[in-house]
Amino acid sequence: MAIQHSLIFNICFLLLLLPKSIQAESDSNRKVYVVYMGHNARDDASTSSFHLRMLQEVVGRDAKKHMLQRYSKSFHGFSARLTEEEVKKLSGMEGVVSVFPSKSNKLATASSWDFLGFPLTVNRSTTESDIIIGVFDTGIWPESASFTDLGYGPPPAKWKGICEANFTCNNKIIGARYFKADGIYDPKELKSPRDSDGHGTHTASTAAGNVVRNANLLGLQSGIARGGVPRARIAVYKVCWIEGCRSEDVLSAFEAAIADGVDIITVSAGLTSAEELFNDVYAIGSFHAMQKGILTVQSAMNEGPMPQTTGSIAPWILSVGASTKNPDLITPVRLGNGIVVNGVSINPFTLDRMYPLIYAGDVPNITAGFNGSISRFCVPNSLDKNLVKGKIILCDAISTGEPEMLAGAVGSIMTYPGPYFELVRSYTLPVSAVNSEQAIRIARYIQSTRNATAIIMKSEDDNNATRPYVASFSSRGPNPTITSILKPDLTAPGVRILAAWPPVAPITEVEGDRRAVPFNMISGTSMACPHVSGIAAYIKTFNPTWSPAAIKSALMTTASTMSARINTDAEFAYGAGNLNPIKAMKPGLIYDADEVDYVSLLCQEGYSSQHIRSLTGDNSSSCSQIMEQTKDLNYPSFVIPTLRKKVIDSSFNRTVTNVGSATSTYRAFITQPLVSGLRIQVEPNVLRFQHIGQKLSFKVSVQATIQNLDNPIVSGALTWDDGLHQVRSPIVVHVP
Ligand SMILES: *[C@@H]1O[C@H](CO)[C@@H](O)[C@H](O)[C@H]1NC(C)=O
Ligand SMILES: *[C@@H]1O[C@H](CO)[C@@H](O)[C@H](O)[C@H]1NC(C)=O
Ligand SMILES: *[C@@H]1O[C@H](CO)[C@@H](O)[C@H](O)[C@H]1NC(C)=O
Ligand SMILES: *[C@@H]1O[C@H](CO)[C@@H](O)[C@H](O)[C@H]1NC(C)=O
Ligand SMILES: *[C@@H]1O[C@H](CO)[C@@H](O)[C@H](O)[C@H]1NC(C)=O
Ligand SMILES: *[C@@H]1O[C@H](CO)[C@@H](O)[C@H](O)[C@H]1NC(C)=O
Ligand SMILES: *[C@@H]1O[C@H](CO)[C@@H](O)[C@H](O)[C@H]1NC(C)=O
Ligand SMILES: *[C@@H]1O[C@H](CO)[C@@H](O)[C@H](O)[C@H]1NC(C)=O
Repeated sequence: MAIQHSLIFNICFLLLLLPKSIQAESDSNRKVYVVYMGHNARDDASTSSFHLRMLQEVVGRDAKKHMLQRYSKSFHGFSARLTEEEVKKLSGMEGVVSVFPSKSNKLATASSWDFLGFPLTVNRSTTESDIIIGVFDTGIWPESASFTDLGYGPPPAKWKGICEANFTCNNKIIGARYFKADGIYDPKELKSPRDSDGHGTHTASTAAGNVVRNANLLGLQSGIARGGVPRARIAVYKVCWIEGCRSEDVLSAFEAAIADGVDIITVSAGLTSAEELFNDVYAIGSFHAMQKGILTVQSAMNEGPMPQTTGSIAPWILSVGASTKNPDLITPVRLGNGIVVNGVSINPFTLDRMYPLIYAGDVPNITAGFNGSISRFCVPNSLDKNLVKGKIILCDAISTGEPEMLAGAVGSIMTYPGPYFELVRSYTLPVSAVNSEQAIRIARYIQSTRNATAIIMKSEDDNNATRPYVASFSSRGPNPTITSILKPDLTAPGVRILAAWPPVAPITEVEGDRRAVPFNMISGTSMACPHVSGIAAYIKTFNPTWSPAAIKSALMTTASTMSARINTDAEFAYGAGNLNPIKAMKPGLIYDADEVDYVSLLCQEGYSSQHIRSLTGDNSSSCSQIMEQTKDLNYPSFVIPTLRKKVIDSSFNRTVTNVGSATSTYRAFITQPLVSGLRIQVEPNVLRFQHIGQKLSFKVSVQATIQNLDNPIVSGALTWDDGLHQVRSPIVVHVP
């Protein structure tokens, strides 16, 4: 899903380039900043006036005019238009944790649930409809069949949310708000929680959409569309707009959702590169959500496949990468010589006959100054309409389809560079994307005859799908900010996901595409995230008292293992593995953690006692006291950053809580990495439990002198096994 940011970024860029003298004459040297002040101990009204007084102190009389948003519920702070000098002054004021520029953050089914082994008929709790999922996204299309409230009772008693503007809630969508602190709306945008983009409708229905039979995209992948928890309620927080999702609005949504009483927050958006923890609104907001027992699930983002590209870094967030399997939808191209080439795309069109086939490199628009070395890539306006009209064209790149369509082509065969192509999408004309080997075969055929022809067939299911792997676009670890925490945490399906779509949102971004569809198939970690949110909610329906960390542990330790042969960046691509909903219901043991554990980690990461006090609102404890209580964060995965040729001697303390059988004996199984000289040990290696809720601790030690670490990542695993449950944690040693 691509939301357009370029326009806004260009405008900001121009402002930065203006000479100082011009800037000073207007307010254009003010930029939006978030002033974050941690946990809130005051009441609403006094906090608000306190913020204004603070701003007055640095800005003067115009303070009110420059104030955008005040946060005064579970945490406090404000956003305002500030100059650099004012930022400096505010940063030094007492109680201020961080001051950071607002950013324009990016937005990052049917068969996907069956593929995960989570059938329609799974056991469901009668309390599923008491669960409320908060969706931070582009809004929602309430008339979609995925959100009708047939058979729903009134909202759960704990619910305190509201429905804004002229948006009419029902008993399925029980809350709907929108946030745009700067008040600047694109004319194409709806000033309400209603979704004109499609992204938010899609993600909400993946997490908690009703069961809708016979859902399909223009006849493709027909099946049952449903969310992970189809009976759960949805609360909509629209924070993402055409320009992206602004920091101050995201923070407002966290504040509102925590106060409203949601159970799980799903955020298919985030920073495109990792930030320092207190400059990351997703990390800040989700910390305060965690304090109130709410788990935040976030997409790892779509900046892969390079290392350190994930923007989702906080240990209390569940960060989700996108997995897929080999093309489950193929689009065959039949050539005039009878050869069939299986490409990929989402192609609902049926061509009536064979058409002449040409190579884009042979048909440049010479009068416009193009030659074959440009037109072969189907660059906009580079094609000669007279030669392209009514034909199928072979391009040496992936295009939007628009240049071929504008030149009058009947269909387009595009070429993708890698071994797989995951960002398959819809086009306004018949398209099949082929790999370079296949493209060469087609090109040879074109050269071999005076009269080459082809037909692009409608996409069809490929039932020969193999094991899941991580999509190349999915953002990778290691964690750039907190190196001791492995990210992403796990993966879930994120390629060609079918889910609800607003009829007003075009299915391609091509101007003039007016096809209205109730369901659409799109790809991204944005689509993976709500799969996990849905299952997190599913777990919560059966275990209402579990902490966010417990739910997160259940999802991670039961994830299906993935192959490092396909993804050589291993855990930095897939974390603990691929979501396994049924196993996640019965984890056996959990790695629990609470606020103190997270704070202790922050102390070890070098955050000051003063910052920690602001964050938690506990004004007495110091880092040294907190670190005495807990040392290691009780995280369900292990990571050891090291140096080439360094002696490794690390140990980790962990504590597991029994949530499986009352009396059980777990044995530790170590999967040793395939590197000589690396030794992983567990002490004790047998845990005997006598009752549910019992906690037992153990120590994992990793020792090695790695002589020659060719591979930048070496992985093993610890699995606690009682014969019924396999509680698996990856152990990763890497050279950053
Ligand atoms: C569903 O619930 C029933 C009754 O509680 C139980 O016997 C059965 O094992 C459950 N099935 C699954 C797949 O969890
Ligand atoms: C009602 O919603 C429409 C969009 O559906 C919007 O254009 C209009 O401004 C809204 N009216 C109010 C009063 O919010
Ligand atoms: C084609 O055009 C490009 C750019 O206009 C130029 O650099 C290149 O030399 C041209 N190639 C041929 C074969 O004329
Ligand atoms: C070539 O490009 C020019 C300029 O864009 C356009 O006016 C003309 O119609 C094109 N010719 C053909 C044959 O496509
Ligand atoms: C070229 O192909 C078309 C369509 O398949 C066919 O009708 C025509 O006879 C062919 N011409 C030659 C010279 O092969
Ligand atoms: C399935 O895929 C495997 C591996 O790519 C291939 O060898 C096999 O021929 C395929 N089977 C079918 C029925 O397409
Ligand atoms: C902070 O400390 C002061 C005294 O040092 C105390 O009166 C106040 O209640 C404390 N606040 C909180 C939230 O603990
Ligand atoms: C693990 O716990 C033991 C006992 O509580 C403690 O002595 C040791 O220092 C801890 N080790 C680490 C690495 O935290």
